[in-house]
Amino acid sequence: MIKPTPIAEIVATGRFLPDNVVTNDDLAERMDTSDEWIRTRTGISERRIAPDDMGAADLGARAATIALQRAGLEPGEIDILVVSTATPDRWLPSTACDIQALLKCDNAVAFDIMAACTGHLYGLSMAEGYLAAGRGEVALVIAAEKMSAILDWNDRTTAVLFGDGAGAAVLRPSNGSGRGILSSHHQSDGKLAELLYRPGGGALDPISQSVLDEGRHLLKMQGREIFKNAVRSMAEACDIAMQKAGWTANDVDLLVPHQANIRIIEATAKYAGIPMEKVFVNVDRYGNMSSATVPIALDEAIEQGRAGPDANVMTVAFGAGLTWGAMALRM
Ligand code: UT7
Repeated sequence: MIKPTPIAEIVATGRFLPDNVVTNDDLAERMDTSDEWIRTRTGISERRIAPDDMGAADLGARAATIALQRAGLEPGEIDILVVSTATPDRWLPSTACDIQALLKCDNAVAFDIMAACTGHLYGLSMAEGYLAAGRGEVALVIAAEKMSAILDWNDRTTAVLFGDGAGAAVLRPSNGSGRGILSSHHQSDGKLAELLYRPGGGALDPISQSVLDEGRHLLKMQGREIFKNAVRSMAEACDIAMQKAGWTANDVDLLVPHQANIRIIEATAKYAGIPMEKVFVNVDRYGNMSSATVPIALDEAIEQGRAGPDANVMTVAFGAGLTWGAMALRM
């Protein structure tokens, strides 16, 4: 099979996590849960929670600043700024425009995409398309999530699962290096939207006293259904992206999966035929940060030398929409 020629490569990454660590025991003091339940059912030990005055744009700008420094680029050199977030600071304008103002990257076209936990992979593909079309030389793809702001802190079935954080990646054209995005596969199924959603507070059911009283603006999830769909979809997406990249499971040096639940990660790796030694896990320290999990995990993997030059890295994610996708990267 002819190996695909990558169009765009990740030249630098960055991450930002708020300082405030909230442990399972901290949560057990405010709701009916326990460290034992959370760890055995999810693999999560602690998560970071951003302060009230730090929003998604702030989180994202901090991760992006690190990625830009590592890439040796000035903000003015960014042509395309794509931000994925399920927790925009405000409904208008986009969080991307707010981040653009913070970074002072005045020459960029800036816009948000909404694909929940899969958002960073969709964002990378969107940026890849812009670069392929010759619409610029430098793309900055950010995932910024302040999940703590949309959680129902009285609902133990969701409140214990999520955390706040941001990750960023700088993409440039590949220039024949053989490194970059080798393949991707993205999919969605809107029929399953109500398995994981925020029912109210939008255009159809605008913010009102009844929305607030009933908490319809907060995240609702059918955990078991999401679990089943997550494993099936991520395993399938991995298979398709591997095939398109001309890889078998043996060719994967590292799997960087969405970090929602260690049991989902283990089941996905098993279906994909990738042993756990080759799987990056940090869900224990951060919980589920929606679209920010993949770029933060990738950044940590690079820092730890687990995704060094020429490594074959498979990323895979799943989330509300439902959306899912996988991307094969040659680092
Ligand atoms: O980014 C994608 C978004 N989300 C996900 O990927 C999440 C996918 N789903 C999951 O990770 C799992 O389904 C959960 C972690 C959410 C739940 O684990 P589970 O093994 O599916 O548990 P369950 O929902 O079947 O609940 C088992 C029991 C229930 O009690 P009963 O009915 O058996 O008496 C729950 O009420 O655990 C109870 N429970 C809790 N107990 C202590 C639910 N949440 C908690 C809690 N602490 N925080």
